Amino acid sequence: MVEIEEVSGSSPFERVGAHSHIRGLGLDKDGKARPVADGLVGQIRAREAAGLVVKMAKEGKLSGKAILLAGPPGTGKTAIAVGIARELGEDVPFIQLSGAEIYSTERKKTEVLMEAMRKAIGVRIREFRRVYEGEVMSLDVKMGSSVYNPFIKVPQSATIKLKTRDDEKTLKVGPNVARQLVELGISEGDVIMIDSEDGRVSKVGVSKEAVMFDLTSESVVPRPEGPVLKDKEFTYIVTLDDLDRMVSRRRGGGLFSLILGVETKEIDPEVRAMVDKQVREWVEQNKAEIIPGVMFIDDAHLMDIEALSFISRAMEGELVPIIIMATNRGITNIRGTDVKAPFGMPLDLLDRLVIITTDKYTRDEVGEILKIRAAEEGIDIDDKALEILKDEGERRSLRYAVQILGIAGVKARSEGRDKITEEDVKEVAERFSDVKDAIQHLKKYEGELLT
Ligand SMILES: Nc1ncnc2c1ncn2[C@@H]1O[C@H](COP(=O)(O)OP(=O)(O)OP(=O)(O)O)[C@@H](O)[C@H]1O
Ligand SMILES: [Mg+2]
Repeated sequence: MVEIEEVSGSSPFERVGAHSHIRGLGLDKDGKARPVADGLVGQIRAREAAGLVVKMAKEGKLSGKAILLAGPPGTGKTAIAVGIARELGEDVPFIQLSGAEIYSTERKKTEVLMEAMRKAIGVRIREFRRVYEGEVMSLDVKMGSSVYNPFIKVPQSATIKLKTRDDEKTLKVGPNVARQLVELGISEGDVIMIDSEDGRVSKVGVSKEAVMFDLTSESVVPRPEGPVLKDKEFTYIVTLDDLDRMVSRRRGGGLFSLILGVETKEIDPEVRAMVDKQVREWVEQNKAEIIPGVMFIDDAHLMDIEALSFISRAMEGELVPIIIMATNRGITNIRGTDVKAPFGMPLDLLDRLVIITTDKYTRDEVGEILKIRAAEEGIDIDDKALEILKDEGERRSLRYAVQILGIAGVKARSEGRDKITEEDVKEVAERFSDVKDAIQHLKKYEGELLT
């Protein structure tokens, strides 16, 4: 079974670590934001708007639109996007990338975006398969000489008796199934399934009837009901990108790529077209259902005109994820041009935006967020230290304060304490610059650095 490969995309460390305290959007059942909940503090309006986005996404009502989180640095844009991902649940693909990540020396920008887009679209596939299922009552495996090596004995056939509450069947199986039975260590009392078409064997668990002591670490299941041979429904979730890769592997490279495990870097547009066609057919035949996920592009202003146009064009298609972007820029150049525009985005994209703005935090809110972060890092913080961090949060940025807190925590713990003190914070803040300071610092040397 193939499951979704990535839920959060290839996120650099900072973005994962810094938001690990967020469990959701912290809304009550009417969609109202609780002041502090699910790791989120304040930013009530933005969180409630994000809640609506989640609702619309789940109902499939966001197609053709993109969401933009806009606000000054350190006001929780990325945090809220992470909250949206948590709210959508595990079945819904969520891919996160930064505007900077699309620039690669190996691949075209549009290819990186296309792949991310397809990773953000899930397909729930329903399939009926004819299977034999039951509790193993007896199993007799016949061994014989291997065709390839006469000195080795391998399973050649087996006789197996399967029982359900209502039925019983004895099956004679060939070498393929017999080998799997041996490899999986199947024995009496196990509940197993054998696919009637491809002979794949899987173990469901150990039958309740067969467990005498409560010592087994395997999952205990009831003896199945109904006939032994039956049609059973299976569902799996894959992404369009998973399907692209499967088809591409089957097509290209042949034996060579199988042996060497060569991964094709780029997927042929033809393959994608084939996959789309197949998926549409499945949907029409009621065998599959599309689950549009979310593609979150952080620091969207880092994308250039080519990437941005690609996105607005892609949004016209049918198989598109919900696109959420975040930016901390106001009116600025569209990257790659001299044209100024809101958020550095071209008109055709602006037209589709649903904008959620985030505001600066109050001092108290900064304090709450810092306390949550301290708890997340498993460390206490004394009142004075917290006041200093709040100052830093106000004066510089929340992000800086969160970082200093993290480092101060490591320092305190390495000195055998489990509480951050005023001194820890002061010392760390003195040693580490924020961006503004670092720029000032470099300015001093500019003359020297450039010569
Ligand atoms: N409302 C909030 N509740 C809890 N934690 C928050 C909240 N807002 C921000 N944080 C945390 O504060 C830090 C900075 O916020 P975040 O990175 O989300 O800001 P941002 O708006 O994305 O900033 P930038 O524009 O610089 O990307 C992160 O660790 C984040 O998880
Ligand atoms: Mg951010």
